[in-house]
Amino acid sequence: MSTPETASEKQFRILVLHGPNLNLLGQREPEVYGSTTLLDINRSLESMGESLQVKLSILQSNHEGALVDAIHQAWGQQDGILINPGAYTHTSVAIRDAIAGVALPTVEVHLSNVYQREEFRHHSYIAPVAIGQISGFGAASYRLGLQALVGYLRS
Ligand code: DQA
Repeated sequence: MSTPETASEKQFRILVLHGPNLNLLGQREPEVYGSTTLLDINRSLESMGESLQVKLSILQSNHEGALVDAIHQAWGQQDGILINPGAYTHTSVAIRDAIAGVALPTVEVHLSNVYQREEFRHHSYIAPVAIGQISGFGAASYRLGLQALVGYLRS
């Protein structure tokens, strides 16, 4: 007879979402976002995912509706969401409602420290529906976010 999996044994599935303009990382405002490309970030997350024994599905989109659709499709398929919503952080009630709707534990990450930047970046529609937010550590924000999400799921 098989015994139920405990949280520490289960292979968690995590949806990684990158919002608009993050496909330009490496060439986009390097003084703000650094020289790391999105491919570099994804590779580093994949290798971290392997060592943490979690399965990642990664998507970048410049379209709000595509991000909303991906969040809806995560329901029942994924155990958590790691998201850098990019500029939609500061504008998107739709992404916030999608996260609240699927009720999956979500960690919000930003490369730059949004609180040191323009005032319009100080407000996040996503933060109130996320379990936490990491901002300001460059590409490491994603790795810290993944670690935090996996720790949360296992606890
Ligand atoms: C960002 C911060 C947002 O304000 C900005 O619109 C982005 C990137 C970051 O990772 O620092 O596109 O989410």
